[in-house]
Amino acid sequence: MSIIYDSDAKTFKLSTQRSEYQFVIGPYGFLLHLHYGASVGGQNMSYLLHQADRGFCMNPYDAGNDRTFSLDFLPQEYPTVGVGDYRVPAIEVINSDGSMALDLRYQSHKIISDKYGVEGMPSLYEETLGEAETLEVVLLDRVSSIEVKLLYGVFSEKDVITRSTVIRNLGGADMRITKAASVSLDLLRGDLDLLHFHGRHAMEREIERTTVISGVQTLGSRRGTSSHQQNPGFILSTRDANEEHGECWGLNLVYSGNFSANIERSQTSQTRAVLGLGDRSFQWTLSPGESFFTPEAVMSFSGDGFAKLSHNFHRAVRHNVCRGKHKLSSRPILLNSWEGVYFDFTGAKLLQIAESAKEIGAEMLVMDDGWFGDRFDDNRALGDWTVNEEKLGCSLKELVEGVNERGLKFGIWVEPEMVSEDSDLYREHKDWALQIPSRNPVRGRNQLVLDLSRENIRDFLYQRMCEIFDSAPIEYVKWDMNRSITDWHSPLLSASKQGELPHRYVLGLYDLMKKLTERYPNILFEGCSGGGGRFDLGMLCYQPQIWCSDNTDAINRLKIQYGTSFFYPASSVGSHVSASPNHQTGRSSSLNTRAAVAAAGSFGYELDVAKMTKAEKAEALALTEQYKKFRPLVHDGLYYRLSSPYDPTGVIAWQFAAEDESAALLTVVAADVAANPSCIYLRLKGLSNNKTYACGDAIYSGAALMNAGFKIAPLTGDYPAEVFYFKEV
Ligand code: GLA
Repeated sequence: MSIIYDSDAKTFKLSTQRSEYQFVIGPYGFLLHLHYGASVGGQNMSYLLHQADRGFCMNPYDAGNDRTFSLDFLPQEYPTVGVGDYRVPAIEVINSDGSMALDLRYQSHKIISDKYGVEGMPSLYEETLGEAETLEVVLLDRVSSIEVKLLYGVFSEKDVITRSTVIRNLGGADMRITKAASVSLDLLRGDLDLLHFHGRHAMEREIERTTVISGVQTLGSRRGTSSHQQNPGFILSTRDANEEHGECWGLNLVYSGNFSANIERSQTSQTRAVLGLGDRSFQWTLSPGESFFTPEAVMSFSGDGFAKLSHNFHRAVRHNVCRGKHKLSSRPILLNSWEGVYFDFTGAKLLQIAESAKEIGAEMLVMDDGWFGDRFDDNRALGDWTVNEEKLGCSLKELVEGVNERGLKFGIWVEPEMVSEDSDLYREHKDWALQIPSRNPVRGRNQLVLDLSRENIRDFLYQRMCEIFDSAPIEYVKWDMNRSITDWHSPLLSASKQGELPHRYVLGLYDLMKKLTERYPNILFEGCSGGGGRFDLGMLCYQPQIWCSDNTDAINRLKIQYGTSFFYPASSVGSHVSASPNHQTGRSSSLNTRAAVAAAGSFGYELDVAKMTKAEKAEALALTEQYKKFRPLVHDGLYYRLSSPYDPTGVIAWQFAAEDESAALLTVVAADVAANPSCIYLRLKGLSNNKTYACGDAIYSGAALMNAGFKIAPLTGDYPAEVFYFKEV
């Protein structure tokens, strides 16, 4: 039993293997948070609550003359507006009378022996029956008759707790929701750090660690997608926390659209973290009898630093987020045509690429952008999903068969959410693109966005995709989305409901993805949004890997993949070896270094193999074969960040360790080298103190490698990299 209700103390205790979460039905029915952290052995933590008569801290009417009970400093489960708490709320509404107060009190609760689902959206699921339990707590505002159901899913073995909220209008008139968080977490301490992952196109998920300041720090996206600029996942940690030590709390959202996160240190030095929909990028009208489901949030706590926290998330992503036959499968090594030939290809050229791809050990050829309609550049033809047989010189089926005959699987690129103004689809259905009447649309990459909230448009896309996927043995689809969204207006919605469109778009996208992934269970879908602009747990429910970044520069990738690794496992990270000099940065680096970096994910190539010398092809083949050997370790092993790309030494190291401690793979890259250098000493992780390991001809004890370290001779040259494999003997 991971969820226990103590009816005497009125406490709820949610326990996982290494964490405990507690809250209490407090005075007057307010739900007060007590603890989220290391296990406290079931002790009732209500003793932590402190009441005092503090100036300008309001008291609920029910408290009578008691001036010590105030929601302004008591920790809460789902804080609201208008009840005397002036901190960031989890929910904001506009009641039918125009007032904005919401006074939620406990009504009832239920413990359910499996995991709840979220209507219209993906959420974590139980991999094995009985893996998770649900706690449902119903709160009610008696005046407005707005009911809020808090849902908690406890994955005990995984050390993960999920949260979601259902808001129901039990009143007689429409009300409006302007903020609906999935999670709010009140911690009684104010001495914390915030780690978050910001960035830009081609430089996603850079990490920033800041002090949680007095006042509110807000993160989020209003781009219609989870965005390159700010990932929905963030971490709160104690100031001393590092990879191995200290307490940390990770929060992330199973959602791919606009979101908002607020981190507040209050006047009483407590920390509140709120994550979900809101902050002027969301609104929803709820008519009598209707319910609104928030996306799901995922939380995990580690008392042993960031590595453990990442392992918790990686496991949950691989087992409880990703679905279908590919979630744990060995992902194919693919050769993607994009950086090799861009739009400049024919069927014959692709077959030639396939032949040379085979020579370097690739397992799949992916035909990227440029195969349909008049798509000779990125200004036109999106929406015209018919194969340009004239350009290819053959049918898609003939091309795929040709690729298959050369011993490779075949994958294809699509960008279904978009339409070019210069396309037959747009000429026929101008009104299918998001556009505000009487205004010119805002362009991005010279393309507009289709209104995915509309079922007929989704049906059209579904049909078109099915026709393509059915026409040939396609085994992989790269689903791209190459702009941020503007022009939020849909002709099917009344004026008062236009603000719902960003969320309705995401619901539409999920509906389409669900139908397609159910119809094509054998196809491996890879997500993409100009690289990693939609790298989130929502998309990972349908696409077990995501193209991590349009930046394939191995040295820039060190930062991008480092930031990505905090929440997302290596198997989900699409990473390719591209040409040198790199097309984004102009930097030159060796094939060995490019492959070493790309090997920390789902590996592939993105270059014109025909342009490689014989010697380069032979080296590439050897590197591919090496990756094949290590692939299970990379996908299934525990990931350790041994040093940071932000470290001034310029030495970046990471490691995969088999869960059974039988093997490890260590990669070291020098982003900077110096004259008269020192050796590099690295302490390995995840081995056994009692086992012996071979690395090349040398034999080491696990204890020596972990407690004293491994010695690497000084690295010199242009961005050198080395890979070491340790195998139990
Ligand atoms: C995006 C993707 C690239 C490539 C191009 C094609 O930028 O991230 O990998 O597929 O689109 O237009």
